[in-house]
Amino acid sequence: MFSSKGTVNGIGNKGRSIHHFTGSREMTDRTWRYSVVMTMVSLAWLLPVIATATPFPRDLQPISVVGLEDSLLYPSFQGLMSHNNSERLGLDYQRMIRIQHMLYIAARDHVFVVNLTASVDRIIPQQILTWRSTDVSMCALRGRNSDECYNYIKVLVPHNDETLFACGTNALNPACRNYRLSSLEQVGQELSGQARCPFESRQSNVGVFAGGHFYSATVADFQASDAVIYRSLGEEGRPFLRTVRYDSKWLREPHFLHAVEYGNYVYFFFSEIAVEHTAAGKVVYSRVARVCKNDDGGSRRVLHRHWTSFLKARLICSVPGDTFFYFDVLQSVTNVLLINQRPTVVGVFTTQTNSIPGSAVCGFYLDDIEQVFNGKFKEQKNSDSMWTSVPEEHVPKPRPGSCAGEGSASSFSSSVHFPDSVLTFIKTHPLMDESVPSVNSQPLITNTTSRYKLTQIVVDTAAGPHKNRTVVFLGSEDGRVLKVLTSIQGNSSHGSRLLEDIDVFNPTQCSGERRVLGLELDKEHHALYVAFSSCIIRVPLSRCTRHATCKSRCLYTHDPYCIWLQTGRCADVAPGFMAGFEQDIDGDQSHLFDTCTVTGEETGYKHPMDLGQGERD
Ligand SMILES: *[C@@H]1O[C@H](CO)[C@@H](O)[C@H](O)[C@H]1NC(C)=O
Ligand SMILES: *[C@@H]1O[C@H](CO)[C@@H](O)[C@H](O)[C@H]1NC(C)=O
Ligand SMILES: *[C@@H]1O[C@H](CO)[C@@H](O)[C@H](O)[C@H]1NC(C)=O
Repeated sequence: MFSSKGTVNGIGNKGRSIHHFTGSREMTDRTWRYSVVMTMVSLAWLLPVIATATPFPRDLQPISVVGLEDSLLYPSFQGLMSHNNSERLGLDYQRMIRIQHMLYIAARDHVFVVNLTASVDRIIPQQILTWRSTDVSMCALRGRNSDECYNYIKVLVPHNDETLFACGTNALNPACRNYRLSSLEQVGQELSGQARCPFESRQSNVGVFAGGHFYSATVADFQASDAVIYRSLGEEGRPFLRTVRYDSKWLREPHFLHAVEYGNYVYFFFSEIAVEHTAAGKVVYSRVARVCKNDDGGSRRVLHRHWTSFLKARLICSVPGDTFFYFDVLQSVTNVLLINQRPTVVGVFTTQTNSIPGSAVCGFYLDDIEQVFNGKFKEQKNSDSMWTSVPEEHVPKPRPGSCAGEGSASSFSSSVHFPDSVLTFIKTHPLMDESVPSVNSQPLITNTTSRYKLTQIVVDTAAGPHKNRTVVFLGSEDGRVLKVLTSIQGNSSHGSRLLEDIDVFNPTQCSGERRVLGLELDKEHHALYVAFSSCIIRVPLSRCTRHATCKSRCLYTHDPYCIWLQTGRCADVAPGFMAGFEQDIDGDQSHLFDTCTVTGEETGYKHPMDLGQGERD
């Protein structure tokens, strides 16, 4: 489960905060409440310990709750209808990417291309690429679930300005193709998808082009036992490289989440079974790994056609205090953003699968990640000893993990010339000793009172009329999107506000799982695309006109996307709008009592403070 100390503090404090919300009727599910109360009772003997610890951060209360009466009206897309328009064929969403004003949605047997400019009222694909499994006989022979005989498009990345690279599971026989961006015509030959695309729809994978090469992370075999981070394609003469096969020090049952090119490196974000956790039971940790873009693999003797620069480190998202509470399972992570003028990634993490649900959002500065990669290495002397740091004098030179031609390896023209001692060291020591701390060593947001976890994240670092506010959108397992205003200026993470809790999953249009699988911002059109397995829903970034002509309510939203106009109206902020309006983003709650009852009733908007307790849910 958690670290031994964390268990005590975390659950105990969690019990307290849940108790708080039970009083305000946030929790309606009796069974859930009962189990929490029982947890509290059984932990009662621990309370003296908790009382001395730093208080656990309280969950935020949403300023506004957006229910289905609003969200049922949002445009949605559910894939194709059958020929006689009587039956939905299902979407089976896999991923989406935005390229300029077009949204590409990869699903089962199809890629749908949506023009964002034309999608304000309805989401209608402008182009549809159909790519079905070429041969289902093998798939049927393998005797798997026939659902896996479709072609699930798992890779969809821009290859260059003109082409799109797509890979599909192709009935358990993964394949890749290039398509012209403008026309969706296939360009060139079909390629094998092995090590570039998983065999099954539910297996995780990431892919990105950097310097002309395709970097992928997935499983490379039908049994899903050969997890791999792989580099292929690209210029002649550069070898294809991979991680060492079946070596649990390199990768152990990884779940891949994201890959980004940055500087001389490509970074991979994933969670995996923690090899350094030697106590009983499997524990998942989150990782960032790094490889050099100019890696050529090792010598003929050691690490030939394998990475010579693969390093990985643990990411820590925890609540600080005298004892720690860890959110160890990374669910989703952003690209590199600038926060406090520093390159940063922001991720949403959850607790371990079989423990009490909890989620937290943490940021990581890239220079903190680099510092850990320049620090000590971790090692285990023999299979039953503890993991310890490697003494500096045992680390060979040039420093393992360096890129040829850089830093301590500046005299080497290629990694194939690295001494065997360096190659042997990196082969056996991919794990760093230190963990990467989060920005300000604390989460930006925690959510520990919901029984549902948060699964997806996108961040707008240029929100509001002055483009200087940071708004985080989070998708949950129960079909909601949380919109959070964060302030991580300087060295404080305090002052986040949960602006809206939006019930997005539309049961009249979507079916099956309510878990949010993807989020894509379209700021130009003031929209957020929310993907579920069976549908995509377009949610406006704000709902300011609900506050119509009531100034106090408009300001009380504290929403950077809402402005109060001099003409006496609450409006969604339009790009380029700089003057002639009021906002109160950092303000206190003093406007609360200056209510506009009549307007409120007219617009159907209910101020949270106007509601009786029973109406909150
Ligand atoms: C926690 O997440 C749930 C969605 O699963 C949401 O309804 C609730 O408002 C969130 N609470 C906080 C404080 O973020
Ligand atoms: C954002 O910019 C405006 C105008 O320059 C300024 O008044 C405001 O203080 C800034 N807010 C933050 C949080 O930086
Ligand atoms: C936070 O920043 C303030 C001023 O910017 C500084 O005085 C203080 O030492 C910082 N605290 C930490 C923990 O870095």
